[in-house]
Amino acid sequence: MAGTEPLDVRPIEAEHAEAVWPLSIEAGWNQNVADWRFMLGAGRGFGLVGADGAWHASSLVLPLGQRLAWISMVLVTKDRRRGGVGTGLLKRCIADVQDMGAVAGLDATELGRPIYLPLGFHDLYSIRRWHLDAAKDAVAPPRGIEIRPATIADLSELATYDRPLSGMERPTILAHLLLRQPGLAWIAQTPSGAITGYALGREGRIATSIGPVIADSEPIALALIAKATTSATGPFIIDVPEAHRDVRAWIEGQGGQTPRAYMRMTLGTAKGLDDPSYVFALAGPELG
Ligand SMILES: CC(C)(COP(=O)(O)OP(=O)(O)OC[C@H]1O[C@@H](n2cnc3c(N)ncnc32)[C@H](O)[C@@H]1OP(=O)(O)O)[C@@H](O)C(=O)NCCC(=O)NCCS
Repeated sequence: MAGTEPLDVRPIEAEHAEAVWPLSIEAGWNQNVADWRFMLGAGRGFGLVGADGAWHASSLVLPLGQRLAWISMVLVTKDRRRGGVGTGLLKRCIADVQDMGAVAGLDATELGRPIYLPLGFHDLYSIRRWHLDAAKDAVAPPRGIEIRPATIADLSELATYDRPLSGMERPTILAHLLLRQPGLAWIAQTPSGAITGYALGREGRIATSIGPVIADSEPIALALIAKATTSATGPFIIDVPEAHRDVRAWIEGQGGQTPRAYMRMTLGTAKGLDDPSYVFALAGPELG
């Protein structure tokens, strides 16, 4: 039943990161305070405070360039669900994205999708979340391709490589991830030094998240994913578009389990975003 009272929507600032964190913990999600602080600083948060002074609901808009913005962290405490709060916050986010003249994108959980469909979002492609305790098997990159650690000096070229293949303009996110967890940052390159793929990752509340992984081809992506997971300590989570069967088979071969799926959705059309050919792991549903 939707509520009739207008919602008292408040901005969520970066300084509220710790106070809002219990919402994602209650939902069993992987974000830590560093994730919330980064997202609230780089984007705009909108939420609801209850009579007890605690945050009861959240939502977030993260611009990915001037023409696309990601809506994420749509969370309502269990006690406040089915009262129109989720829909109200989502409408606030959509208005924010439309004010900047951009298309809204998001990765919907099975709980979220029923709210997004009536608001005009349409499906692009489905994604599987994988849980992997540890990985043992290395995968050699294709002939002539070398995998090496990524460094700060790679950032500008990385952002230029990423943009057409991911359909997202996200130099700030790539820089944040590389600086935060350099040990999870890898680049695939040709002998002349041209980038042919990369992997980034970050620590989380429950598991280390591997992604984004963007590459010219699935064999390169697989070598990057194997490198990232065999060089770090698990458990890992990794969100892989359904289309990539070899990556799926390798993760399954390492004992990976898939507890849930997401649907990538947009409100409007964003060039290149409907094509997962080069997107082998998401930055995460919260980052795009
Ligand atoms: C998804 C979520 C934010 C929805 O918040 P909410 O405040 O309950 O949403 P609303 O009350 O606005 O629901 C709007 C409509 O969506 C549909 N809906 C919502 N939850 C549903 C469910 N569990 N099953 C079926 N339909 C559902 C209903 O049509 C509902 O309208 P109704 O209550 O009048 O029938 C909340 O369930 C939640 O925090 N879930 C955990 C986190 C999550 O999955 N977030 C979504 C990320 S994509």
